[in-house]
Parts: sequence; structure tokens; C-alpha cells
Amino acid sequence: MFSILPATGVHLTLVETLLDQRFGPARRNRTAYRLRDGVQPLAHLSFVAMAGDTLVGSVQCWPLRLKPLFGARLPLILLGPMAVARSCEGQGIASALMRCSLAAIDAAAEPPVLLIGDAPFYGRFGFSAAATRLWSLPGPVDHARLLLRGPSTGLPRVGAVEAASGNSARAAKVA
Ligand SMILES: CC(C)(COP(=O)(O)OP(=O)(O)OC[C@H]1O[C@@H](n2cnc3c(N)ncnc32)[C@H](O)[C@@H]1OP(=O)(O)O)[C@@H](O)C(=O)NCCC(=O)NCCS
Repeated sequence: MFSILPATGVHLTLVETLLDQRFGPARRNRTAYRLRDGVQPLAHLSFVAMAGDTLVGSVQCWPLRLKPLFGARLPLILLGPMAVARSCEGQGIASALMRCSLAAIDAAAEPPVLLIGDAPFYGRFGFSAAATRLWSLPGPVDHARLLLRGPSTGLPRVGAVEAASGNSARAAKVA
């Protein structure tokens, strides 16, 4: 049994511990992290899964921008990282976190959602790599894993994904 709750400051340390466990400390070298440098997660779109007092899952969302070749930058939401405690996998926790986050995004009419992840998992939530083939990131990315959800109408075919603010000087290694 687990409950999904809005993520707050009191969960931050536990979330970081879970992310270290699931992705390893080298996670901070990934391109996705460069997109979050100096940026705070969007509290109203980020959730944790609790089994009693134990944090067993987390999903965070972040503001992002897409810079077209010409014209103004467009807002996007970056979803991730998504992580579930190894001992609790296969119980639907990630799916429940995803549904909460996407429902909050849809309710607030937030911009389209971008993530870097496995299409076989995220495809079931409406994510696809179709629109992002010519989008660049501030580091290497496997474009088959650069997935967008939401209407791509009005989004440029070619663009640079960048953090909404903050320092992007740190070198990124892999997505
Ligand atoms: C991926 C992860 C979040 C899934 O969490 P979970 O709570 O076990 O997921 P759920 O129980 O909601 O969903 C399980 C379903 O997703 C599928 N699934 C899980 N990971 C998958 C993947 N990488 N690719 C394709 N399908 C995947 C399972 O096969 C299962 O399918 P089914 O419903 O048809 O049986 C979890 O395994 C995890 O934290 N992994 C380590 C961190 C990670 O890889 N995060 C995602 C970054 S892309």
C-alpha cells in the first residue's frame, strides 16, 4: 500500500537519497541534470509516494524553455527524474506518480512535457520522440529517448532545449 502526496521541502533529502540509490551519484553528470542547474522543481507538479513513513517513489517537474532558430523562447515542462525504490517495483507506483503529475499539468494547462527516458515505458502516457528529432540539448542525448507529450503544433522542428534559468556552465556527459 502506498499514498501519493505533493512533494514538499521535508521530502527533499529522502528524494535525493532515493535518486542516489536508483541512478548512482554520477547521475549529476547527465544532460538532464544540466537542464535543472540552479532551478527549483515545480512544487505543484512534483509528487512522492509514501509507504507509511518510508518514501518509496518520486517524480519531479521543472520549468524549461525551447529556443527556436528565430523568435521567442517557448516554455516546456521537464518531467523527471522518476524513481521507485527497488523493493517496491512492479506495484504501479511509477504509473500512479505519472498519472498525478500529468493530471496536475493538464489541470493547470501547463506547457507540453519533455522527458528523457524509455519510450516503451513512457509511451503509454502519451510520450513520443516524433517531434524532438531536431532539438538539441546542452549535452549528449539519445534522441530516441527525448520524448514529448502534448500538442507539437506551434513548436519548432528545430530548437535548443535550455534551462529556464541558472548556471549551465557545468559539463554534461550523458543523458
Ligand atoms: C522505471 C521505474 C520508475 C518503474 O517503476 P515501477 O513503480 O516499477 O513502475 P510501475 O509498477 O508503475 O509500472 C511497471 C510497468 O512498467 C514497465 N516498465 C518498467 N520500466 C520499464 C522500462 N524501462 N521500459 C519499459 N517498460 C518498463 C514494467 O514492465 C511494467 O509493465 P506492465 O504494467 O505491463 O507489467 C523503476 O523501475 C525505477 O525507479 N527504475 C530505476 C530508475 C529509472 O530507470 N527511472 C526511469 C528513468 S527513464
